[in-house]
Amino acid sequence: MLVMDTPDVWEKIKNIQKSCEFLVQGGSAPVPQWPARDVQVLDSKLHPPKKGFSLKEGQARMLHDLASIELQAMELGVRTLAEFPDAPQAFREELMAVTVSEGTHLRLCLEGIHDLGFKWGDWPVHCALWGAVSAEDSLLDRILIVHRYLEGSGLDAGSYLIQRLDGIDDGKHTRKIVGQINFEEIGHVDFGSQWYRKICQLEKIDASVDFPRRMESLRWKLPKRMEKINRDLRLKAGFTEEEILACEAYRESILPSRQKLASATSVR
Ligand SMILES: [Fe+2]
Ligand SMILES: [Fe+2]
Repeated sequence: MLVMDTPDVWEKIKNIQKSCEFLVQGGSAPVPQWPARDVQVLDSKLHPPKKGFSLKEGQARMLHDLASIELQAMELGVRTLAEFPDAPQAFREELMAVTVSEGTHLRLCLEGIHDLGFKWGDWPVHCALWGAVSAEDSLLDRILIVHRYLEGSGLDAGSYLIQRLDGIDDGKHTRKIVGQINFEEIGHVDFGSQWYRKICQLEKIDASVDFPRRMESLRWKLPKRMEKINRDLRLKAGFTEEEILACEAYRESILPSRQKLASATSVR
């Protein structure tokens, strides 16, 4: 039984290391269609409106959304270990470290929510990240979707959250949590960048040609992430200039037209 089958969020955190070790050492287990949850799961379009960060409730809600993302990131790591038993062992071992670190991020968020006077389950969650991958993915698809697209846009979003929290007197504790997570996420995205190139090399694929093509071929399944691409963080996380341009072009192509106009007139 893998962590995705356990509904209790604290049980999941407690078992993450063991779940990963079991798979990395050659164990196998079926992957459920959807991960088990101990809180209400709802399409994000139906979630209640958010409050500003000047209110503790607004910060707790943001940490709750982030916790749901960290939880899915953790479970996606386990899922990749279960679905790609033949991936290079070094990849699997590094992925285990990334996945265990997602468990730490999840715990930080849950503790932060608690410190603000709220609890896990005070808002609904979604499983859109889990829904963005499928058993039919190739390893390159999976790396691109999870570590380069989803975690990559997480970096962009995280830097924006930090900026917003910097302007809040009462936001230091939350800022510390988000800051630590965003810093460590650079390593997760870089893990994806490095392994994407290594797997391309192993499969004799030109990574610079493959990246924009694969983004295009996967676009129908990628959740729409509208955050402006943070070039500095993407570079730190192993993106090439061409890949950043491809991400920016992709973002432009999914932006609603009013936002497109605003981003065309904004100064870089
Ligand atoms: Fe994380
Ligand atoms: Fe991550």
